[in-house]
Amino acid sequence: MPQKLIVAIDGPAGSGKSTSAILVAQKLGYLYIDTGAMYRAITYLAIKKNFNNKEDIIRLAEKTDLKLDFGEGRTKVFADGKEITEDIRMPEINARVSEISKIETVRKILVQKQREMGSGNRGVVMEGRDIGTVVFPNADVKIFMTASIDERAKRRKKEYSEKGINVTLEDVKKNLLSRDEIDSGREISPLIIADSAVVVNTSEVSIEEQVNIILEEIKKAADKKGISIKIS
Ligand code: DC
Repeated sequence: MPQKLIVAIDGPAGSGKSTSAILVAQKLGYLYIDTGAMYRAITYLAIKKNFNNKEDIIRLAEKTDLKLDFGEGRTKVFADGKEITEDIRMPEINARVSEISKIETVRKILVQKQREMGSGNRGVVMEGRDIGTVVFPNADVKIFMTASIDERAKRRKKEYSEKGINVTLEDVKKNLLSRDEIDSGREISPLIIADSAVVVNTSEVSIEEQVNIILEEIKKAADKKGISIKIS
């Protein structure tokens, strides 16, 4: 009998998923997994190697030893032992990541890795676009986070500014809208609200409130399954 829960958090970029998922995982003492970082890592490597055709990119996904190491509030990302944490967050990656995420075999490879990472009854909070629908359709808790495009663009622009990256709000908005369209419109594992997912609109909700809403859902699921959880 599983003694820990699987929590799936999906939603578009800038919806607040990462911030909430990290805090929830920390409060529960669960593993936090950012699946977007894996698609970003393959995109970064494809750009670096100047790979443009599907076969080459699929081979990259197959061959690369990807590691996510969460600590001190952020995920460190390693590809074949080399740290690429900062590289995968650059605007060039945002411009290509949705296109690469559409490749069916790349998804199959990464979904398999995500299932392995989330297995073993360690308790996991996994965030992405297809966690509640494809990666863990039997997740105990499914959350779909969303926010207005203006709010999401403002948040992303602020993140860039904090890193000293100069981009206009208009460009950030354009990239988010284009990724939304590709991520939601693709044939394989599109970003959709999973059946039974609780939708949290974060446009006007504080981070603390978002976390509390998710924790309430987790408590309900734990009660129903007779699983005890400790929230710190
Ligand atoms: O969460 P993020 O913005 O870092 O994700 C980057 C891209 O990766 C996103 O635009 C689509 C893709 N992605 C995906 O297709 N499936 C996931 N589970 C996570 C991310």
